[in-house]
Amino acid sequence: MTERIVTDLTNESFDVFRMFDRQWALAAAGTAADCNTMTIGWGTLGTIWGPPAKGKQIVTVFLRENRYTLEYVNRNERFTVSFFPDRYRKAMGVLGSVSGRDDPAKITRAGLTPEDLSGTVTFAEADRTFVCRKLFVQRMEPDNIVSDIRDRMYANAEAHVMVIGEIEQYIDRRDA
Ligand SMILES: Cc1cc2nc3c(=O)[nH]c(=O)nc-3n(C[C@H](O)[C@H](O)[C@H](O)COP(=O)(O)O)c2cc1C
Repeated sequence: MTERIVTDLTNESFDVFRMFDRQWALAAAGTAADCNTMTIGWGTLGTIWGPPAKGKQIVTVFLRENRYTLEYVNRNERFTVSFFPDRYRKAMGVLGSVSGRDDPAKITRAGLTPEDLSGTVTFAEADRTFVCRKLFVQRMEPDNIVSDIRDRMYANAEAHVMVIGEIEQYIDRRDA
């Protein structure tokens, strides 16, 4: 297995409008021994809080307030966002429909293997992982969301929480 560890993403390119929306990812936090994870389809990559240029390179994810994974994100300094080969799509379906609160074994049942990484957790099966230091967490107040989206998304459901993570490491295990 080849592994490329990148700490400055300036020269990387990402298919950002497909990698979350179409490919999906897992957000995870904790340790290999005690973690939780969930499928995410929403996410952004970008920069913030630099002088002009040299901004912090970030991933932003949006986790609904009732997600068990959010408890792990809240309790830990770091979290990961990881991507998988197509053959794990079914696993992503499981991890996106079963809560770890109801089924603590959902990760092994989905066929994934938690792996400690730089003070947080990823999965042996992941082929790309962003290791993130949590910089900012905020509830997205439904009253501040444009009414058509608010009515569609939040009339009978919890708000989302926006979590910004600084990318400390990007680990690419895809074969060169
Ligand atoms: C394709 C897909 C994408 C999803 N994207 C998100 C997302 O971006 N944010 C979110 O809060 N939930 C999302 N979910 C739902 C969670 O993954 C799901 O509720 C999960 O069971 C939560 O697990 P947990 O309670 O163990 O954290 C998605 C589900 C699927 C299947």
